[in-house]
Amino acid sequence: MSYAIQNKPGVEQNKLYSEDVGIHDWYRFVLSYPPHLVRYYIEKLNIDNKHTILDPFCGTGTTLVESKKLGIPSIGIEANPVVEMAARTKINWNIDCNSLLKHSSLVAKEVKKRLKACGNNLKSLDTEREKLLIKNSISVIPLHKSLVFLEVLNDLKDERFHDIEQTAFAKQLVFSYSNLSFSPEVGVRRKKKIDVSVVELWLEQIQKMVLDLRSYHSNKRIQAKVYLGDARAMSQLLNRKSIDFVITSPPYPNEKDYTRITRLEAVLLNFMSVKKDLRKSKEVLLRSNTRNIYKGDDDEQWVANNKCIVELADTIEARRIELGKTSGFERLYHKVIRNYFGGMARHLKELKPILRSGAQLAYVVGDQASYFRIPVRTGKLLANIATNMGYELVSIDLFRTRLSTITKEQLKEEIVLLRWQGR
Ligand SMILES: C[S@@+](CC[C@H](N)C(=O)[O-])C[C@H]1O[C@@H](n2cnc3c(N)ncnc32)[C@H](O)[C@@H]1O
Repeated sequence: MSYAIQNKPGVEQNKLYSEDVGIHDWYRFVLSYPPHLVRYYIEKLNIDNKHTILDPFCGTGTTLVESKKLGIPSIGIEANPVVEMAARTKINWNIDCNSLLKHSSLVAKEVKKRLKACGNNLKSLDTEREKLLIKNSISVIPLHKSLVFLEVLNDLKDERFHDIEQTAFAKQLVFSYSNLSFSPEVGVRRKKKIDVSVVELWLEQIQKMVLDLRSYHSNKRIQAKVYLGDARAMSQLLNRKSIDFVITSPPYPNEKDYTRITRLEAVLLNFMSVKKDLRKSKEVLLRSNTRNIYKGDDDEQWVANNKCIVELADTIEARRIELGKTSGFERLYHKVIRNYFGGMARHLKELKPILRSGAQLAYVVGDQASYFRIPVRTGKLLANIATNMGYELVSIDLFRTRLSTITKEQLKEEIVLLRWQGR
């Protein structure tokens, strides 16, 4: 096994974390992995413009953006609609920037007018939608201003700019208007933002995006596409033998609830308005945490004969019983392991007909130890599942380590590199 990425000095990582401002930093520290990792594998695997790269868990689209910058066609799949909108926006570089700026100043003027007209009459969410939000995630006045802003954005809707204008709003909503903090879990900061300049901050974000769009103008015709879909059921979306490389960072079994991270913007932008929408949006996600395990989940059948997974899940459940832990979440730990890895097996099976012979796949995944301190070696287990399914293991590269707050041990984030020979 090789440990190539570890040899890339941390200095480079830091440098690359701080570049690409504007549209391309959307959600950087919440969902994304660093762009340099994508570029490293594009170079290492000799990927060029005759190839097509797939990111089946594309999040906000780091793989797609980096591919497009380098002139390589790419396709992404993302199951969370608000995140898919962000990815779609980030890869659409074919926008008339002057008209966008004109339209955005029109929107800004109208919002200011309507805010004045509202006076002390503050807008708020209906109870159903409010119940979906993390409590205190946004204060009364920023919420009022946001709702007036969105009303205007819909009234003056211009299809050419709607995605980018909504994405600019979502970014500022999360990072400037709301009381949310990401450290790294989503939470609510103690010091609340009582009032914010919703319109001005949105205009600033649009201007940043325009700068980005202008600087990447030359590659605007490179093909990049995002589908809203489930990476465990994607064969209908993609043509047979159409993919040469996969570069992706799927969720890990790490208790991160992706729908919670994006809840505020999903509710305000109407991707979700009643409780059953939330359940629906969770059901299409990989079962990576106890909050999206449901009765009837059956991804586990895909690893029912995998000794490593079954043993790990049984060990976790046996430890729970031994420790006398009875909470609802703790009872689900072993289920997450079975259904998460089962979901990944289902995804790898679904991928086979889509891959060209000789295709190479890079999966960035992390270990964890939060289920009664029992180590979950995600990279190794994923490699084991893949090889059982006929993929060839090329290497497991160490990307970085992070300190487990629970066990005080270093947990690995690794890149599992696979090859599909088409047999
Ligand atoms: C670690 S994030 C990917 C981050 C991404 N590399 C980026 O640059 O933003 C994992 C993503 O997988 C998505 N996801 C989870 N289950 C999925 C599924 N079954 N199909 C497609 N996407 C899924 C989540 O919504 C999340 O956005």
